[in-house]
Amino acid sequence: MRFFLDSANMEEITRAWEMGVISGVTTNPSLVAKEGAEFHPLLRQIAEIVDGPISAEVIALDYEGMLSEARALAEIDPKIVVKIPMTVEGLRAVKTLAEEEIPTNVTLVFTPIQALLAARAGATYVSPFLGRLDDIGEVGLKLLEDICQIFAVHALDCRVIAASIRNPVHVLEAAKIGADYATVPFSVLKQLSSHPLTAAGIEKFLADWKKVPGR
Ligand code: G3P
Repeated sequence: MRFFLDSANMEEITRAWEMGVISGVTTNPSLVAKEGAEFHPLLRQIAEIVDGPISAEVIALDYEGMLSEARALAEIDPKIVVKIPMTVEGLRAVKTLAEEEIPTNVTLVFTPIQALLAARAGATYVSPFLGRLDDIGEVGLKLLEDICQIFAVHALDCRVIAASIRNPVHVLEAAKIGADYATVPFSVLKQLSSHPLTAAGIEKFLADWKKVPGR
């Protein structure tokens, strides 16, 4: 499993990229809105830092509108992956964009069959939202498991991104299930890289080092 950073914040993106563990970035309209920056210039800035897929979402809900936004986004940088909401119009748009070789990430996936439809329409990636299912009392990881099983059984050429990740357990289980990617907020990325025993171990080594003569 590879990692994407789920953020539109340049400081977080730069720090995560420099850590060497992320393969790309995913954004959504809510994350972009938090930054108070214009969308296309922000994507250009991200593309200067990140050498990997950068998901950017369309706002239109109609087929023609989605296509024209998608083509404009794809013009920004070849690394842009167009995020399309999981709707009938969205599937139509995915099919056309696949024919144009514009990569897509079908977002807001909440059932295994939505994911299968997206894959059949030609999506490059699908994004099942784990945390939002947990929020309504369902089990997000079960959705991920079902999607990975269906994609393996039918040898589908569509990559699965575990999205709406809220904690390190989501990440651990997504890796065990076989998700291709987990897109994680920066706060979770920091949690993943630390452990109290690592911190205590460093402290003890440094304290002991002070006792070394002539150090
Ligand atoms: O970017 C899509 C997804 O990761 C959103 O997560 O936490 O808003 O449900 P969240």
